[in-house]
Amino acid sequence: MRVGLLGCGNVGAALAVLVDEQRDVVARRTGLSFEVASVAVRDLSVDRGVPLPAEVFTTDAAAVVSDPDIDVVVEVMGGIEPARTLIVAALGNGKPVVTANKELLAVHGAELYSIAESAGVDLLFEAAVAGAIPIMRPLRESFAGEPVTRVMGIVNGTTNFILTKMSGEGASYDDALAEAQGLGYAEADPTADVEGHDAGAKIAIIATLAFGTEVVADDVYLEGISGVTTDDIEAAAHLGYCIKLLAVADRRGDEIGVRVHPTLVPNDHPLAAVNDSFNAVFVEGDAVGEVMLYGRGAGGRPTASAVFGDLIDAAGNSARGHGAPIGSLERARISPIDDLETAYYLALDVDDEPGVLAGVAAVFGAHRVSIRSMEQAGQGGEARITFITHRARERDMQATLDDLGGLDAVRSVGSVLRALGG
Ligand code: NAP
Ligand code: HSE
Repeated sequence: MRVGLLGCGNVGAALAVLVDEQRDVVARRTGLSFEVASVAVRDLSVDRGVPLPAEVFTTDAAAVVSDPDIDVVVEVMGGIEPARTLIVAALGNGKPVVTANKELLAVHGAELYSIAESAGVDLLFEAAVAGAIPIMRPLRESFAGEPVTRVMGIVNGTTNFILTKMSGEGASYDDALAEAQGLGYAEADPTADVEGHDAGAKIAIIATLAFGTEVVADDVYLEGISGVTTDDIEAAAHLGYCIKLLAVADRRGDEIGVRVHPTLVPNDHPLAAVNDSFNAVFVEGDAVGEVMLYGRGAGGRPTASAVFGDLIDAAGNSARGHGAPIGSLERARISPIDDLETAYYLALDVDDEPGVLAGVAAVFGAHRVSIRSMEQAGQGGEARITFITHRARERDMQATLDDLGGLDAVRSVGSVLRALGG
């Protein structure tokens, strides 16, 4: 199988090495021999550290996808264009495509799945979500008959690495981000990681497969981790929680809720033990109960492992003359964030005087938000009260925050984070 590789950065270079290392083993197991025959990059002068001759590199990506000698295309360049046009051309030329490009799939997935189906070839994308963790194939195959109710997880390695470093080692946000970039975890523009866009794209793809209905990036409610402070992490730890960036997709009647936000996770919850660049995905269904998948969520070599698995699958399907189509999808009905019900963590800076707490509690009560626990730190002009609520509706919590901000005794409304449990 002659592979056309679009991109030779963190993932593409690791794939070229893996294909070389595993060639004999894969040939023995599958009867297929893989050769990276053509590699499109932007800059021919860069040494990629891969076991490939210089003549396979080109800056003409369009020529790779139209080359009749290329059997299968791997897109690991990232971004929407020219990746989309190249994938459409490859599928149109009857070539199966493997991609790790969640940004693209979360916007144009349904269109591309449909083109692949019409062309009768595979479009596989295990590496697009949660790096090395097999989650796309289970959702497409193992859970195809499962009434999935919720999928929830840590699906961004960069932010999980940053939060782990900030809480475990007291590292600053900027230092932790720079280290994640150095390790090849972050997107080309790391804003995509820290502001939640990358996790948002992944949960849109997950929701599409889990619920069989088209969910796109714009449907996802997003909050990133750039506002999470070391004070929040310490306050959460004091209350028995850690802070994780969670991505959640759940079925609510005939609507789908999709969201990404920093979340307080109780220390005894399995997701609290998912650290560094590791990811984990919980699938919950009426029949299956709970299943958790765990593994490396980012990094060239773990991601290349997932790409290589897809490559072997796509090549095998191509040799057998059939693909594994997703089929046509209708647009999902999206549940607004205002309808969410969850527990909340809230920090308030207040005047430390008699009657202040009663005034604050009255605001919670007026909006039917029930307080589960509260704690005061500091006193006088330094007083800070942190609350954990029982489950409340988002719109009621937002109304509570508006009214709290109007109280004279409340100097500022600090972080507001959603919490698991309650
Ligand atoms: P990267 O290190 O930035 O590599 C991108 C590669 O694509 C580079 O070799 C670049 O060429 C090439 N490229 C970009 N635009 C091009 C164009 N217009 N024409 C030709 N070549 C072009 O990115 P990466 O980290 O490997 O990520 C690649 C994809 O995998 C992205 O979709 C990303 O979201 C996804 N992904 C990454 C990870 C991870 O941990 N890194 C994990 C899962 C999924 P030059 O080197 O010449 O600039
Ligand atoms: N930037 C992504 C992350 C790469 O940190 O999870 C894996 O998709």
